[in-house]
Amino acid sequence: MSKDSLTITDNRTGKTYEVPITYGTYERDGASIRSADLRQIKVQDEDFGLMGYDPAYLNTASCKSSVTYIDGDKGILRYRGYPIEQLAEKSTYLETAYLLLNGELPSSNELEGWEQTIASHGMIHESIRNFLDGFRWGSHTMGMLVSVLGAKSTFYPDARNMSSQELMELHISRLVSKVATVAAFCYRHSRGLPYIYPDASLGFAENFLNMLFNTPNTKYEPNPALVKALEVLFILHADHEQNCSASTMRGIGSSLADPYSATAGAAGALYGPLHGGANEAVLVMLQEIGDVKNVPEYIERVKRREVLLQGFGHRVYKNYDPRASIIKETADEVFEVTGRNPLIDIAKELERIALEDDFFVSRKLYPNVDFYSGIIYQAMGLPVDMYPVLFAIPRTAGWLAQWKEMMNDDEQKIARPRQVYTGYDTRDYVTMGDR
Ligand code: CMC
Repeated sequence: MSKDSLTITDNRTGKTYEVPITYGTYERDGASIRSADLRQIKVQDEDFGLMGYDPAYLNTASCKSSVTYIDGDKGILRYRGYPIEQLAEKSTYLETAYLLLNGELPSSNELEGWEQTIASHGMIHESIRNFLDGFRWGSHTMGMLVSVLGAKSTFYPDARNMSSQELMELHISRLVSKVATVAAFCYRHSRGLPYIYPDASLGFAENFLNMLFNTPNTKYEPNPALVKALEVLFILHADHEQNCSASTMRGIGSSLADPYSATAGAAGALYGPLHGGANEAVLVMLQEIGDVKNVPEYIERVKRREVLLQGFGHRVYKNYDPRASIIKETADEVFEVTGRNPLIDIAKELERIALEDDFFVSRKLYPNVDFYSGIIYQAMGLPVDMYPVLFAIPRTAGWLAQWKEMMNDDEQKIARPRQVYTGYDTRDYVTMGDR
């Protein structure tokens, strides 16, 4: 009997089965059995066989992936093996996106080519302006983004048949680039402002800020410190392995739907307040608390389960989210330019009390990426409804890295979970008069 196996005894039948255990890069957190190996465990030959029941995928690996590694107990996050702290300090968003999508850091020629490619794809079809006109003034920008990303699929019929790696790369470049233009246009429309077209001479974050804040009658020049801060925030948000939206991207992509439709679906998953919408929810929470003196009462409400402490807790991290530490440092750099956002004091007091309170300590609840990001965005003049959109822009690179990996993975098939049926056994139709 192999050491790397599991012996299972079915007490219903007394039969014993041996199931192989396989590993990923690490033995300590990558050991798994194939759920399909459980199917041989039956009482009678005609039985379907044993399944794993795992609502919300608490303990199910849906793929093998080499993109992003998280050790939730130690608070470690790495893209393609590189620690997030080093990438945040030394890389740019586009270089990190290249790394996620291609597996290696680019050479200087590769980086230059990639930056030019992304800059060259920045324009979007003029019909999108008409499409945006259909949204009423003041529409939530994330709802608009989800719709426009889906609509983009109609502009690229060839994306419905990913017949070559080159075609895949072309649509990946388009999406990484155009998501920023679409996001900025959604903002401009929702505020009734004229659209500012992308400027290929500017870097990714600088161009985005320009499309958001420039106006035809004044010259806007983004502060370099704010551009740098946005680059860091984009790097931190670029990927996070098999989260709700990445799994949605893979799930939709697994039916061979085009990547625009899959990205729209992933953005829809991100919109929820338990996922990328949490940064918006944190800001609303901090504004509602209003003053440091009200923090203890809010904590009591959380403990009475009347409200959530938004921006706290994580399915995988049972330690400080490393992204939250970096964002906290970035906040100070941003405040030097913009002036201090007083909400930071409320956030720090919430964190201080929560990290000492047994309710949070015993459940290993720590600040996550969304806890401090909104405070920075607000200081930078970015409106609250744009916060999930700001998450979606860089996460598009991560979604596409996950999608590309899935498309090239021979083990993947259309995603199709099983269920445990708990409804009626067969019964006869009852006519209306007899009900
Ligand atoms: N405030 C109060 N209690 C919480 C919180 C919170 N933010 N998060 C978890 N808990 C409690 C939860 O009630 C449960 O308690 P008990 O065991 O007594 O029933 C325990 O902690 C375990 O939580 P869970 O709900 O089983 O954890 P989960 O892995 O299903 O959910 C989560 C993870 C992120 C959805 C959740 O922590 C949450 O709702 N947090 C607030 C929203 C948020 O900040 N989301 C952003 C997540 S990070 C970025 C991203 O994914 O986009």
